[in-house]
Amino acid sequence: MTTRAVAEAMLPAMDRWHTIIEPFRIHSVEPIRLTTVEERERALEAAGFNLFGLHADDVLIDLLTDSGTGAMSRDQWAAIQHGDESYAGSPSFYRFLEAVQALFPFRHVIPTHQGRAAEKILFSAIGGPGRTIPNNTHFDTTRANVEATGAEAVDCVIPEGLVPSTLHPFKGNMDLAALEALIRERGAENVPAVFVTITNNSGGGQPVSLANLRGVRAICDRFGLPLFLDACRFAENAWFIHEREDGQAARPIPDIVREIASLADGMTMSAKKDGLANIGGWLAMDDDGLAERCRTLLILTEGFPTYGGLAGRDLEAIAQGLEEVVDEDYLRYRIRSTAYLGEALDEAGVPVVLPIGGHAVYLDARALLPHIPPLAYPGQALAVALYREGGIRGCEIGTVMFGRHPDGTEAPAAMDLVRLAIPRRTYTQSHIDYAIEVVRHVATLAPELRGFRIEDEPAALRHFTARFAPL
Ligand SMILES: Cc1ncc(COP(=O)(O)O)c(C=O)c1O
Repeated sequence: MTTRAVAEAMLPAMDRWHTIIEPFRIHSVEPIRLTTVEERERALEAAGFNLFGLHADDVLIDLLTDSGTGAMSRDQWAAIQHGDESYAGSPSFYRFLEAVQALFPFRHVIPTHQGRAAEKILFSAIGGPGRTIPNNTHFDTTRANVEATGAEAVDCVIPEGLVPSTLHPFKGNMDLAALEALIRERGAENVPAVFVTITNNSGGGQPVSLANLRGVRAICDRFGLPLFLDACRFAENAWFIHEREDGQAARPIPDIVREIASLADGMTMSAKKDGLANIGGWLAMDDDGLAERCRTLLILTEGFPTYGGLAGRDLEAIAQGLEEVVDEDYLRYRIRSTAYLGEALDEAGVPVVLPIGGHAVYLDARALLPHIPPLAYPGQALAVALYREGGIRGCEIGTVMFGRHPDGTEAPAAMDLVRLAIPRRTYTQSHIDYAIEVVRHVATLAPELRGFRIEDEPAALRHFTARFAPL
């Protein structure tokens, strides 16, 4: 064998060829209903132009979220059959506990029905008026759960993280100087925890480096503060560290995840993302006293601490999912297939957040629709057009989601994006090729698109239920 042939023989299967192949084959199929533009226009009217209000079977390609929408594996469905529904001490809980602690060896692991339940419990325990929670960027539910206690949620992502077109390998990094200044200004006694979201969902699915996490840890140590991870996409973040951070390429993914965990004192988690499950989450920590307070709150609303709002079968599916999500073939496919969509749109001149994130491609609606001011919701206009033209459901992440403040005022969000989130192991490359075609077509219609006004909105988390009217 020549040296080149030996080198090629040692490459992982997907690095040798240009074509991205899904590292699985399809075992059971779900039909997609092919709708017409006219049908979709009627559906939009009925939903008040809010894509959360659509019937999902009126959607062709559903890129609303990657949360709980992925396909489970044969082995996860098999694990479900092992689900033990004992109220207390189910063996399924112990399998779940072992799988979580193999990656995140925190002393206390408290299952919850999803990520926001973990957030609600934790912030009820540590939040409250006068308190401040720093984060690289709070996700919407995280921010809402902090604010619901009267505490303030402050984002401290690096400046590059707020400019869609800026290239940076770890655009989700915390701005360490801003974090330190915030803690000094508010007083460490008023900061019950520092959070880091991996990857940074609201900022484009961008990763955080190990070096940055070590920097946050050092600041927390200096002020005696606990560091918590919002770890929804920890495996995707670990893959970016493996690919982009010096000295990490040869490390197995579980080792990188364990180092991330070793830098923190606890975590909140939605297992609907990198748990590869349709439902579930957990709250974990080392602090015994805090864990006791959280378990007491858990029993009030979620259930007994060995099931916490989940069925035993869900705990089994998560345990199996955690083994599968750190597989390198899976992660290579996952990140490359998201990049495939993003790179095709970038090459076509559609403005996207760069570099392409882990779980989603974020279209820069403010750049594509400069004639629509932020308070006329360019992200909403673009998301509606993608659905009307091609039946693609994305999610506005911009002024609709973040523009209304607790004091009732409204201001433009930092960015107006439309997120095309890719459910895990669900769509094939031809579905993605179709999405590329639709987005490119909608970009040609950009000058004709009009903004929206909100007709009706709730007091918080308005993006889920607000009704819109075209301007
Ligand atoms: C970064 C981040 N944190 C928290 C959550 C909340 O998780 P869940 O939807 O399971 O409540 C999400 C969900 O999308 C998320 O992306």
